[in-house]
Amino acid sequence: LTLSDRSLAAVADLIKTGYARRIVVMTGAGISTAAGIPDFRSPETGLYANLAALNLPEPEAVFDLSFFQQNPKPFYVLARELYPGARYRPTVSHVFLALLARKGLLHMLFTQNIDCLERAAGVPADRIVEAHGSFATQRCIDCKVPFDGEVMRAFVARGEVPRCGQQQGQQQYQYQQPQQQRDDGASSAACGGLVKPDIVFFGEALPRAFFELMDMAKEADLILVMGTSLQVHPFAGLPNMADEQVPRVLFNLEEVGSFGTQADDVLVLGDCDGGVRQLADELGWREELEKTWRE
Ligand code: OAD
Repeated sequence: LTLSDRSLAAVADLIKTGYARRIVVMTGAGISTAAGIPDFRSPETGLYANLAALNLPEPEAVFDLSFFQQNPKPFYVLARELYPGARYRPTVSHVFLALLARKGLLHMLFTQNIDCLERAAGVPADRIVEAHGSFATQRCIDCKVPFDGEVMRAFVARGEVPRCGQQQGQQQYQYQQPQQQRDDGASSAACGGLVKPDIVFFGEALPRAFFELMDMAKEADLILVMGTSLQVHPFAGLPNMADEQVPRVLFNLEEVGSFGTQADDVLVLGDCDGGVRQLADELGWREELEKTWRE
């Protein structure tokens, strides 16, 4: 056992004594609900429970590539809800992750979230793997040509579906024959294909960065998992990659994944901001946490 007991005080001791210096964090939608962004699978409040109005075959269809190709409208209804911007502020949990990074303790943050709140909180981009992509960039699903961010924002705000070639903000899409193919296989001409943010849909591969950096989870000397149901693979496998002896802490409303099966699993069941505040108290970081969060 590396933990004296399964408590946050024991976890804090590992950090304070310098034993835990490569902390790997895995997050999901639960760390953003306090910011006002719904998660996916919570029974009453989750997005999947509230998509009935969109007439989907099943809720997950909203993130399904082949469904999107036939009917992109439901996704754009949702995109309007979820689109990052001034509307949402990072939570205490996000700010805690920024503190870990500031103190040189964050080995890597793997997030499933597409709201960009980790960056907004100040976690450096090179410490974040956005495993399910993000709304930061977008492109045509056919010819892969990137689409302008500001034009995209305007489309989303109007609840309209953008198509390749509408970068200049034309009201009407004008079809042009694809011209010569570029080296990367993308066409240089606007092709009229559907534009989709670079978030990972069911049926799509995760970003290359995920596969390139996932082994950093094996290098962890402490694992924190926050606000995720651990239902979506391959992400859900990350907390099991490190050695069994590596302590793992779960900050979540409910027990998930394989948590509780290892000797050094610490379950902090409840809202993650509350759990994080407790850990910050044990670390003596509470004041810094609240101050940074308020700024
Ligand atoms: P889920 O909605 O599946 O799970 C969120 C988890 O956070 C649940 O276990 C909740 O109980 C918990 N939770 C909610 N609010 C919380 C709070 N304030 N404090 C602590 N825990 C809280 O969301 P994800 O696990 O992120 O994929 O979902 C994974 C993927 O499924 C998403 O990335 C999305 C979705 O399909 C794509 O968009 C590609």
